[in-house]
Amino acid sequence: MRIEDKKVLAALLDLGVELKSDASLTDITYLGIGGTTDLLRLTRHESIPEVVKLLEANGIPFKFLGGGSNLLVADNVLPWVVMQLAQPDPDVVIEGNIAIVDAAADLGKTVTLCAKHDLGGMEGLIGVPGTVGGALRMNAGAYGIQIGNYVREVKVYRGGARSIEILKGDQISFEYRHTSFAPDDMMLAVKLELPSKPFREILQGIRICNEKRRASQPLGQKSAGCIFKNPPGASAGRMIDELGLKGLSVGDARVSDRHANFFVNAGKASAKDMLALITDVRERVQKAYGFELENEVVVWNA
Ligand code: EPU
Repeated sequence: MRIEDKKVLAALLDLGVELKSDASLTDITYLGIGGTTDLLRLTRHESIPEVVKLLEANGIPFKFLGGGSNLLVADNVLPWVVMQLAQPDPDVVIEGNIAIVDAAADLGKTVTLCAKHDLGGMEGLIGVPGTVGGALRMNAGAYGIQIGNYVREVKVYRGGARSIEILKGDQISFEYRHTSFAPDDMMLAVKLELPSKPFREILQGIRICNEKRRASQPLGQKSAGCIFKNPPGASAGRMIDELGLKGLSVGDARVSDRHANFFVNAGKASAKDMLALITDVRERVQKAYGFELENEVVVWNA
């Protein structure tokens, strides 16, 4: 979608929005899939309520984008614009055991920066791609920890109330790859309370997690991480593997040979290809095991 109205474009500029016309989501998402639309980069987080008001008043649909690491976006010209937070400098401030982190901060860099201040706990998240805001929204986790364990406070734009609010950690429910945030909430910043640990000990933990990840996941390839959530007491990856589906393809969308719950874009896969592959695998697992696999990847259908 393209914003053509000059008055709207000027008002957006006044609100600190940088506009990139006809941005290709193929270049932004980790899957390397997605159509084109106007990308609005918000340099002033506080202006979000006004930006939303302006778009709504002019009938312009929008979506909030984090880092694009866990996202499958539809093909062709998209019927909504996309908003993304610009990264402030600095994006992480440490005060004692508290890290105050902007939602646009890179998750991996945040983990290592905290480590340099002898703050640990998040070692398992080291190889999880994306922003802190994205990790927070879905309660990203790996190797026995999840980001929700460390959340003391979240600054969030609430789509329902159309205002910015500060929520305490205990006002938010963090479950397995799920939180109580609404789909139209936008994470702005988080205060993480982290345990003190010697730097070398944290580095050791990071190294072990990196090794495990390298051994089991297709890291160099275009993917959105795990496609499905694990059903209670079962492993989606193992079931897909046991069915012999590694390498199964629709166009260039392919079940990874390394980890069966990672679907990779092996070339120029379209969203249509990837969605067809997801549906096919889901149906086969349902037939063989009786589990209805739920997407972990977020899908933006047009
Ligand atoms: N397995 C297979 N074949 C495969 C993949 C896995 O047999 O192709 C088996 C493994 O051998 C293991 C079991 O399935 O016995 C579980 O596999 P793994 O340890 O790789 O963990 P996972 O449950 O598949 C989860 C998270 C990952 C996270 C890892 C490490 C989900 C959906 N996935 O994977 O998170 O990195 O644990 O903690 O919860 C993500 O969220 O995108 C993600 C990749």
